[in-house]
Amino acid sequence: MVRAPFAAGRQPPRDRPAPCALRSPARRLAAWLRRWREGDRPAAWSSARVARYYDEWHERYLAAFGDTFQSQRTADLGALLAHVADQAELAPGRRVLDAGCGVAGPALWLARHRGVEVEALTISPAQAAEAHRRVAAAGLGERVRVTLGDFHRLEAHYPEASFDAVLFLESLVHSDHPRRVLAAAHRVLRPGGVLYVKDLFQRARIPDRAERARVRRVIANVNREFCLNVKAQRPFLAALRRAGFDLEWLRAPPLATQHDLGNAFVAAHAIDIYEGPPVTFLDWLELKARRPGRP
Ligand SMILES: C[S@@+](CC[C@H](N)C(=O)[O-])C[C@H]1O[C@@H](n2cnc3c(N)ncnc32)[C@H](O)[C@@H]1O
Repeated sequence: MVRAPFAAGRQPPRDRPAPCALRSPARRLAAWLRRWREGDRPAAWSSARVARYYDEWHERYLAAFGDTFQSQRTADLGALLAHVADQAELAPGRRVLDAGCGVAGPALWLARHRGVEVEALTISPAQAAEAHRRVAAAGLGERVRVTLGDFHRLEAHYPEASFDAVLFLESLVHSDHPRRVLAAAHRVLRPGGVLYVKDLFQRARIPDRAERARVRRVIANVNREFCLNVKAQRPFLAALRRAGFDLEWLRAPPLATQHDLGNAFVAAHAIDIYEGPPVTFLDWLELKARRPGRP
């Protein structure tokens, strides 16, 4: 297997929940198990590793994906982004957070075509610099603001209840702490605001045991090679509820999508995720949820 460059290097410091002296060991264990089931893993890739990964692979992503780093996409990218805008109820003047914005391709499209104001956040300094350049070149600095930062700590960048919608476009899959990210998104959304997530999840319902084991191996490879933490659907939905969201739906996007670019990227860089013949290991899904309450 070809090892991606992000796999090298020192383990950066990790976030740990504050110790709670008042909780019994049994309750601490129960809480840890619950976080683990929800995909809130303390032991996988940190945000610092994700930043380093995207910085190192920056040029290759630009060359392969253009200004929108999404594998699951329509042939005409505008159709995908129009669909996202409709689901997230974007209308002129609305304030949107694009959490994990890449080089601001989607943010620029949404500002141009839907008249929204976008806060675009990325963990990668190389992407943030490129996004700044693109926003300036487009003359949209009044409506798209790029920030370098971590979506686990949205409170460090944005006031409470300051967005009408929060988008995660193939970005939340990087998080080892989805519950924290969802809680942070809940906090910055206004009551009644929309959370829209488009992402890859572990393929559900695989009756055959051998295939299930194989899919587990492939997902471990994908997680390692792309700095991901591909989540199972049910615990993710539990985390969403615990963060305070009302789920409206979770479904396969009703779009004619192709992910040839993702496959081409894997092939071009000789990243051997399958260790044999390809297997379908993911479900590509979109999700809409709402922070309860009236605006
Ligand atoms: C596959 S790219 C998708 C980019 C963008 N949504 C698009 O459609 O072009 C994943 C993005 O998530 C961002 N990301 C991952 N972890 C992050 C974190 N902890 N905080 C902020 N951004 C993060 C990466 O920097 C990258 O921009």
